[in-house]
Amino acid sequence: MRAIKLLSDGLISQIAAGEVIERPASVLKELLENSIDAGATEILVNIAQGGLKLMRVTDNGTGIPAEELPLALTRHATSKITSQEDLHKITSLGFRGEGLASIASVSCLLLISHQTNGKHAWEIRSEGSRLMPPEPSSHTAGTTVEVRDLFFNLPARRKFLKTEATEFAHCEEVFRRMALSHARITFTLRHNGNLRCHWQAAEGMERIRSVLGEAFSEAATWVDEQSAGIGLQGMLALPAYSRAARDMQYFFVNGRFIRDKLIAHALREAYRDVLHLDRHAAFVLYLTIDPEQVDVNVHPTKTEVRFREARAIHQFVYHGVSKALAAPRSGAESSLNTVTLLPDTSVSSGSAEQPRAGFVPTVPTLTYPRQTYLPSEMIAQPFNFYQILSGGESGKAGGYARCT
Ligand SMILES: Nc1ncnc2c1ncn2[C@@H]1O[C@H](COP(=O)(O)OP(=O)(O)O)[C@@H](O)[C@H]1O
Ligand SMILES: [Mg+2]
Repeated sequence: MRAIKLLSDGLISQIAAGEVIERPASVLKELLENSIDAGATEILVNIAQGGLKLMRVTDNGTGIPAEELPLALTRHATSKITSQEDLHKITSLGFRGEGLASIASVSCLLLISHQTNGKHAWEIRSEGSRLMPPEPSSHTAGTTVEVRDLFFNLPARRKFLKTEATEFAHCEEVFRRMALSHARITFTLRHNGNLRCHWQAAEGMERIRSVLGEAFSEAATWVDEQSAGIGLQGMLALPAYSRAARDMQYFFVNGRFIRDKLIAHALREAYRDVLHLDRHAAFVLYLTIDPEQVDVNVHPTKTEVRFREARAIHQFVYHGVSKALAAPRSGAESSLNTVTLLPDTSVSSGSAEQPRAGFVPTVPTLTYPRQTYLPSEMIAQPFNFYQILSGGESGKAGGYARCT
């Protein structure tokens, strides 16, 4: 990784409003993103009391040098971008340099890191943003971030949190999304000392099978479309496996879980003739696209994006999904094992020195015989994915625990 540096004022002003730490799951998302960006191949998460008491994420990534530890906890300091150019082709999950600082300001945080090639580990503590000086510590190569007593200094926000079980369910959902989009990383999750999920690094669709279960995989068909630098891969449940809730809808763009109005519309159109109105589709889809063709700097939580060629992407997704739904089911099983997902190899590096594989830097120009109706207001604005798919109100995250 590059060195952590403060962003220039110009760049700061171009960055969409800061990270929002609303609940334990927001903390977990930031920490997992950092571990993935650091090139970890193994990530271990320990949570106590739904994340309110403790959240600890350990990885075997590149680590942080001692002299950069205070910067890691400083707002607008990042190793992931340095210029406006970088901002227009984000290849990492994080880029604003705000995640750790935001978490530190509302918790008691301990960051221990042993940089690859470093002699030993160093740690730094902070309490509601009050930083202590770094001290020698002990840790294998990689990083541990421990977050205790979230919102200890913000009782008002603590009041809005739900029960321990609900907060943990939100964390589990975040964990599942990360595991689904980074199959080549081994993920382990413990809650109150109990093992809840353990997924070994996997190839291809195997991870989807472990995370979403046999029933989904058995009922699913696969998608594998490539065109002019865009790829769509993944698994779609056939209509017989439709669901009463919107709890199995995962769409990733370059390894990032997103909710997007345009994509949701394309999917709804593709499923329109085969799914009853009160049922919901189940799918895990990975869109891979040249990072210059998608703006991820449009929303604080980075779950919304803006496509430069929105109409082409809509058509590509619509046709890919329609084709998969129309194709005979036979042959899907054998292909499931051979399709290799791009995201885990291509998106996780997060550093400018390690450009991602699998992207063709050309502007996609796609033409398809049938144009679906795409309301023009959908092209520019990201929107709640679940809302669009259901035509109703926003779906609740995390209500579907399959880990145990
Ligand atoms: N687990 C980790 N392993 C290695 N480096 C990390 C880790 N977590 C954070 N960092 C470093 O700290 C910096 C600040 O992290 P963060 O506040 O989350 O901002 P961002 O991820 O947007 O850069 C990162 O840019 C990275 O260099
Ligand atoms: Mg980050």
